[in-house]
Amino acid sequence: MNAAFFTVHSDLPREAPGDEVSLSWALRLADVGERARILAAGCGPGADLQVLSRLRPGASLTGLDLHAPFIDRIRAEQPHVQAVVGDMLRPEGQFDFIWSAGAAYGPGVSNVLSAWRQHLAPGGAVAFSDCLWRVPRPSPAARAFWERDYPGMMDLPNHLARVEGAGYRVLGARWLGVAAWDAYYGPLAQRVEALRPNADADLIEVLDDTQAEIELWKAHGGDYGYYLTVAVPA
Ligand SMILES: C[S@@+](CC[C@H](N)C(=O)[O-])C[C@H]1O[C@@H](n2cnc3c(N)ncnc32)[C@H](O)[C@@H]1O
Repeated sequence: MNAAFFTVHSDLPREAPGDEVSLSWALRLADVGERARILAAGCGPGADLQVLSRLRPGASLTGLDLHAPFIDRIRAEQPHVQAVVGDMLRPEGQFDFIWSAGAAYGPGVSNVLSAWRQHLAPGGAVAFSDCLWRVPRPSPAARAFWERDYPGMMDLPNHLARVEGAGYRVLGARWLGVAAWDAYYGPLAQRVEALRPNADADLIEVLDDTQAEIELWKAHGGDYGYYLTVAVPA
């Protein structure tokens, strides 16, 4: 990723759709205890860690991300979190709950689910969101965008099959709602607007691309969505 991309994406509250309602739902469904050991894998700038701190103040929280500036920011803003630069395929330790918002697609959902099994304590659960097709025939515009950004994007039946294929049983699942998208795209749209007047050619390219992504969601957001899956080892 280039410097212009990081100019657009630095210091945003979050880097994927998500909201407190869905995280809270997942915690309840997975029966995550007050003193649970929780890993936020691919935690980005740490918005969900803030929510986890509020919802489970007695928990032991670890934030893990490959991108060091995100981890530096979490260390500065959330000193009670153990913030680690590293690969979610190789977390260190045992956890009662592994949470991952819109990040498992990078290393691959099946890969991370397989890797996480040995890091789940007895009775532990995983909860992760991933972008899926919601309709059998998405619009050409949505197809073109996602084939570029997430070529292996699945539909729901194939997603559920891969979760089971990785050795998990689904406890429950739901589509993220509009509020979750707004939490990501709202600040991002404001950033695009603020940067545009003084942007150079490289930055304009990223701004146009980002704006097109947001417009695509407004026009064809029913074709795809983030699906939050809560699962336990089978
Ligand atoms: C789309 S962002 C979502 C970030 C965050 N979950 C949020 O909602 O703001 C995906 C994040 O996963 C991280 N990531 C990608 N592959 C990773 C890996 N193998 N191990 C750890 N983090 C990874 C990226 O650096 C990025 O911060």
